[in-house]
Amino acid sequence: MYVIAVANQKGGCGKTTTTVNLSASLAYLGKKVLVIDFDPQAHATSGLGFDPDKIEFSIYDVLSSLSQQKKDLDSVVQQVSENLFLVPSSILLSTLEQELSDEIGRETRLWSALSQMKGQYDYVLIDCPPNLGFLTINALRSANEVLIPLEMSFFSFNGVNQLLDIINLVRERLNHNVDYRILMTMFDSRLQYSYYVQDAIKERFGDKVCKTIIHINVKLRESASHGKPALYYDKYCRGAKDYLSLARELLSYLEAPEPLDKGWKPQSPSAPSKEMGRDMPLRMVEFIFPDPNVKEVYIAGDFNGWRIGEDSKLEKRNGVWVKSMALPPGRYRYRFVVDGKWMDDPNNPMKEKNPYGELDSLLNVG
Ligand SMILES: Nc1ncnc2c1ncn2[C@@H]1O[C@H](COP(=O)(O)OP(=O)(O)OP(=O)(O)O)[C@@H](O)[C@H]1O
Ligand SMILES: [Mg+2]
Repeated sequence: MYVIAVANQKGGCGKTTTTVNLSASLAYLGKKVLVIDFDPQAHATSGLGFDPDKIEFSIYDVLSSLSQQKKDLDSVVQQVSENLFLVPSSILLSTLEQELSDEIGRETRLWSALSQMKGQYDYVLIDCPPNLGFLTINALRSANEVLIPLEMSFFSFNGVNQLLDIINLVRERLNHNVDYRILMTMFDSRLQYSYYVQDAIKERFGDKVCKTIIHINVKLRESASHGKPALYYDKYCRGAKDYLSLARELLSYLEAPEPLDKGWKPQSPSAPSKEMGRDMPLRMVEFIFPDPNVKEVYIAGDFNGWRIGEDSKLEKRNGVWVKSMALPPGRYRYRFVVDGKWMDDPNNPMKEKNPYGELDSLLNVG
């Protein structure tokens, strides 16, 4: 069971959207996923189709000592879809800090409840409230990873240091291994400004930044108001594809036989975090698309977060399209984008079906 807390005290940066859509994508890729709505606003609860006013039991009834209807975590779980489950929130959660103010070990309350569920889920995602209070500390204490959404604004930098300080505090004072990862959200590719912020985030956080970028997409907002992840609302929209790429990226780190990104794994509290690929031999790989008559060819895959950009363009050489890349050993999926049309590699017999029913080409390096 791998626990990811989605946290940032800045309001409206995409925490709930990320929790709901990343968990739906992981479930779509065959993982059993539990979402814990840990925000009294209960937006993840409504985003997954449940009316918080009609919910009978919530996470409050699991963690409270005062609740008249004390429950264990298992018994408040609601099923959303085949692999996706939810522990709903309620406004009462906002009273919990006050209620437990004299209790020893109150920061580990959620962790204790979760540890009884060991093995039942592959992934647990916790949607945190927009503050660094008792609930967020509980979530960080329960997590292997903190995923920090940052929207494309220089203001989003404000406060991240504070969150990182809290993460360090949890490592040191609560003696709990937890690492973090930055996710760029609400990227508007029409604005030059987005690219400035992207560069600044990459410069500041380096390899801690997810390769996948979440673009601004109105369907993400629309689907939330319909109580659905974008994947269930319009699976071809950009938002659904971005979060599916994020899920794949995450799985490629977490479930690769040889972890590609050591930074993604929990670190020991005192160990400096290792960075991706630092001590890994890279292998040169050449991708070739054979048809010289097409106008442009891009390559997108696990190795570049399924993004199409200048750096993923193939060059025409000696009558074929070519792209060389240095990759760490591992197993990758990729596709070509030929004159705007996605297709698998016609020269590569190794293929596997993707969730859209199309074929991804497979590559083993090393
Ligand atoms: N990539 C996106 N494109 C378009 N709209 C988005 C995107 N991500 C989030 N939104 C919208 O922005 C608003 C805020 O997003 P969200 O609720 O996920 O943020 P949050 O960090 O959980 O907020 P809070 O701090 O209040 O919990 C929502 O209306 C959501 O639908
Ligand atoms: Mg939220």
